[in-house]
Order: sequence, then structure tokens, then C-alpha cells
Amino acid sequence: MNTEIRKVDFLIIGSGIAGLSYALKVASFGKVCMITKSDQDESNTKYAQGGIAAVTYQPDSFEKHIHDTLVAGDGLCVEEVVKMVIAEAPERIKDLIEWGARFDKNKSGDFDLGKEGGHSENRILHHKDNTGWEIERALIEQVHSHPNIEILDHHFAVEIITEHHQGKYINSSSPEINCFGVYVLNTRTGLTEAILAKTTLMASGGAGNVYASTTNPKIATGDGVAMVYRAKGRVADMEFIQFHPTALYEPGVQPAFLITEALRGDGAVLRSAAGEQFMLRYDERGSLAPRDIVARAIDNELKVSGADCVYLDCTQIDETRLKNHFPNILAKCLSIGINPNTDFIPVVPACHYMCGGISVDEYGRSSIKNLMAAGECARTGLHGGNRLASNSLLEALVYSERASNYAIAQINSISFAENIPEWDIKGTADPEEMVLITQSLKEIQAIMSNYVGIVRSNVRLQRALDRLQILHRETENMYRRTTLSTSLCELRNLILVGYLIIKAARLRKESRGLHYSIDYPRPGETLLRTGSLETS
Ligand code: FAD
Ligand code: SIN
Repeated sequence: MNTEIRKVDFLIIGSGIAGLSYALKVASFGKVCMITKSDQDESNTKYAQGGIAAVTYQPDSFEKHIHDTLVAGDGLCVEEVVKMVIAEAPERIKDLIEWGARFDKNKSGDFDLGKEGGHSENRILHHKDNTGWEIERALIEQVHSHPNIEILDHHFAVEIITEHHQGKYINSSSPEINCFGVYVLNTRTGLTEAILAKTTLMASGGAGNVYASTTNPKIATGDGVAMVYRAKGRVADMEFIQFHPTALYEPGVQPAFLITEALRGDGAVLRSAAGEQFMLRYDERGSLAPRDIVARAIDNELKVSGADCVYLDCTQIDETRLKNHFPNILAKCLSIGINPNTDFIPVVPACHYMCGGISVDEYGRSSIKNLMAAGECARTGLHGGNRLASNSLLEALVYSERASNYAIAQINSISFAENIPEWDIKGTADPEEMVLITQSLKEIQAIMSNYVGIVRSNVRLQRALDRLQILHRETENMYRRTTLSTSLCELRNLILVGYLIIKAARLRKESRGLHYSIDYPRPGETLLRTGSLETS
């Protein structure tokens, strides 16, 4: 075994809200190493706009937040998990505030609570329209000031280390697989090293880039889910991909700029090009219906009318309120010649959030020993078939705290693994491969967007699977003969995540939550194969 191998007590993959908050919880109990593949603050967290849901004042109550979460989840949430997360929310908000995150208050000094689709009360704490940026700022500042935490940025986790790397045969039914750490590619030097850890937290976020249009930044490539699946860990609920109804319509611009649902909470309404408030035809909650319903309705309107986008009408929101509460959205719109005080904002749905992921229990433990997961890469049971808006930052905080308690309690009883080989260097750099990687990325995004989007069918899913299998074969060949690179690893991970989404979607023989198939219409709805929806 290489004597130079780095050894840490707590290893964390990812520096979003899940990874950072976990680091702060465990740091007094051992040596912490956080690896993150890009700049330290680059994450989905940084771009969160609307805020974080928690019950703070009456007339709101835990019961109402639980009810709204269960309704949005379309009968697939794990009710015990929902109750637990919502009950622990106020304590986790206190943590965030103690770490220095600032939330907007009104003139009376109470939190200025926002509202989003599917919420029956105003319960969303926010910092203007850039809540995630504020949370990420505060947490990174805290992490920097802790002597036990080392952050390795521009380090890419390639594979988690298990018995497999010690040359032991494991199959899916093996009673126990252990996580001993990860192989990490330093993207500045091109060198790959093993980092051994007593416990590892996967906090690698979402996978929005598996679709052609997403609100997620480039880092969201499903690496954690792919690594865990390859290591024979369990994943679940992958068919439930959330499309945000209102991404700014700006063809060719990636990531798509989000137009927060909080604007609809403040009175903005969706309109067709002809000015009709079409959402009222689909749901009595209109523009504030849960996201799956709104995104599907927009998709349908676009297919039926042939239009490129629908519009968000914010003109009835007071000008000063727009300026003070949504300054970033206002600035972005003005920068492209749209004045939301007078003009409608063109919007389209875009891939936004992965509800499924690595299966974890109530302590964030995955099916692989000493590997936990929290945040968007984890499937906890909170979201069921469709996540309620602003419940994900909350879920990440609650599960990171629970995982930290478990890890702290175990840490002294875990030893480092031995006989871990160095990364098997293979392949040669070939510039030609770069072109193939870029093209293959576009192909997978096209396959997923065309056949596995908001509205699916058996035929579309089969077609997607057939095409993905070709891409998979080609990419695995390339992986075997080429020098390791982030772009190739990400492509490989996206193909695997795409496969998991398709596989789960094919297994679900019904329309539920975010998974909608024209072959299994919901009772009371007739979905025409042209894509037009009639409700009865
Ligand atoms: P992230 O914040 O995405 O962090 C993942 C980290 O893992 C990153 O640092 C990344 O670089 C790193 N990483 C990934 N792969 C690797 C690898 N192979 N090796 C090393 N590092 C790796 N949710 C809400 O609750 N409220 C909102 O208002 C809200 N608004 C949103 C707005 C936008 C535009 C987006 C995109 C999402 C929004 N969400 C919102 C969702 C929410 O932001 C995310 O679900 C949440 O921030 C995820 O946190 P995380 O820590 O799990 O992952
Ligand atoms: C938004 O601000 O609309 C996004 C909120 C979320 O994804 O939870």
C-alpha cells in the first residue's frame, strides 16, 4: 500500500449546503477533508432563489406544511420522514442563522415569509431573490475559519473505494459493501490519488445536465448517484425529475436563468401569448398549483399552440417591491431589454431538480457501509413523486445534521482500510476524443429531452433506451483507452443517470407526480397522442 495515502476521519464530496453544513457539524470530532470539483462555492445551492421552507409563525403549523408536502408528493412520500424533516426545520434554520446566514425581515422585525406553488401558507424564509448565494457565502466563511476542515477544490471524485478495489468479488446480493474513501482526480495536475476515510458523505448534488435545458450549473452531472450505483449501492425514485415551470426563455443560453416561483407567490400569473390565464383551465390553484401540474400544463400549451414560450405577468406587483425583493431577476430581465414592471417575461419549463437518488435511511446511511448521502443526491422519501418548492435546502440541512450525529457516534470504532491500490493509470490523451465527448454530451441531452421529458410514453422510453445503449458502448470504450478527464467521467455519469431515469420510468406503469405517461393517463384525464390535454 502507498504510504503517502491521505487519511481523514470525515470525507465529504461536495461543497453545497449539504456538504458544508455537515462539515461544520463534524469538525470538532476529527480531521475533515472536503473535495469539490470546481470552485469552492460553485453548486446548485449558490443559485437557489425562492428560499427555504419552515414553519415559523401562526397561522402556519407543522400539520399544514406536512399536508402540503404530502399532497405535492402525490401519495409517494414516506410520511414519517416528512413529519421528521418538518419538525426539525426550525432548529436547522437556527443553525443557519447562527452560522451567519441573513434572511429578510419585515418592518415589524418578523421574517418576511414568501409563498410558492403548493404551499397553503407563506412559510419561505429568503434573502431577496438569491437565498442560496447568501447561504453558501455564510457557510463557506464558517468552514474557512475552522482549523480541522481542509477543502480541496478542483478535485473530482471518480469512484468510491470498496472491496472491489481490494480485488474481492462483490455482487448485488453481497451482504455488506464498505466504503473506504474515494479516488480523486486533481484537475489542476491531472494526477489521481486515493483518499482513505473512516466515513464518507456523498453531497454531490443533482444531475440537471442530463437534459438539454436546465437551471442547474455545469457541475450538476449526477456523479454521486453514478458512483454509488457502480459500487452496487441502492438508488430509488429516479423517474421523478422536476421541471421548473418558469425558466427564462433565452434560446441557447445555459444554464437557463430561473424566474423564481416566489414571484407567483407575490401575485404574478402565467399567460399565453394571447394574454389568457391558461392555468385556470388546468387547476383551480391556477399559477400557484404544484410544479408538476404547472410544467405539464405549459408543455401542453406549447405543443397545442406551437408557441416557443408562455409569459409571466408580474405587472401587478408593486414596482418598489419588485426592486427590493427581486433585484437580481429585475436586473437580468432589464439586461435583455425586458422590463417586468411593464412587459411580460417569456418563460419555458427547464429541468431543475432530481427527486430520487441514493437511497438513505433516517440517518442518511446508504446501503453501503460508512457511506452516507445528503442533499439533492440522496433519496430520503421526503419528496415522493414531486418535491414541494423550497423543501430541498431544508432536506439537505436536516439530513446532514442527522448523518453528522451518526458519523460522530461511530468514528472511534472505524479503522482505515488496508491494501488499497493506487489508481490504475491507463489510456493516452487524444484530442480527437474531446470532440467525441462534446458531441456525445449533446446526444444524451437530446435523447433525454426528446423522449424522457415532461410527457413520456412506452415508445419514447424504448427509443431513448436503444439510443442510450449505443452511446454507453461507445463511451465505455473511450473510457478504457483514454486518459482520465473530468469531461469524460461526467459524460459517463450522465449516461448512467439517464439510464437509471429511463429504467425507473419504464417500471412505473402509471402517471404519478412528475412521471407522466400518455400510455397510463390519470383517472379523469384524456391525453391525446398529439400531446393535447383534456380534463373532464
Ligand atoms: P449542490 O449545492 O449542488 O452541491 C454539490 C457539490 O458537489 C458542488 O460543490 C459540486 O461541485 C460537488 N460535486 C459534484 N460532483 C462532484 C464530484 N464528482 N467530485 C467532487 N465534487 C463534486 N431549493 C430550495 O429549497 N429552495 C430554492 O429556492 C431553490 N432554488 C433553486 C434555484 C436554482 C436555480 C436551482 C438550480 C436549484 C434550486 N433549488 C432550490 C434546489 C437546491 O438549490 C438544491 O437542491 C440544493 O442546493 C442542493 O444542495 P446540495 O448540497 O445537495 O448540492
Ligand atoms: C424557485 O425559487 O422558484 C425555486 C424554488 C425551489 O426549487 O425550491
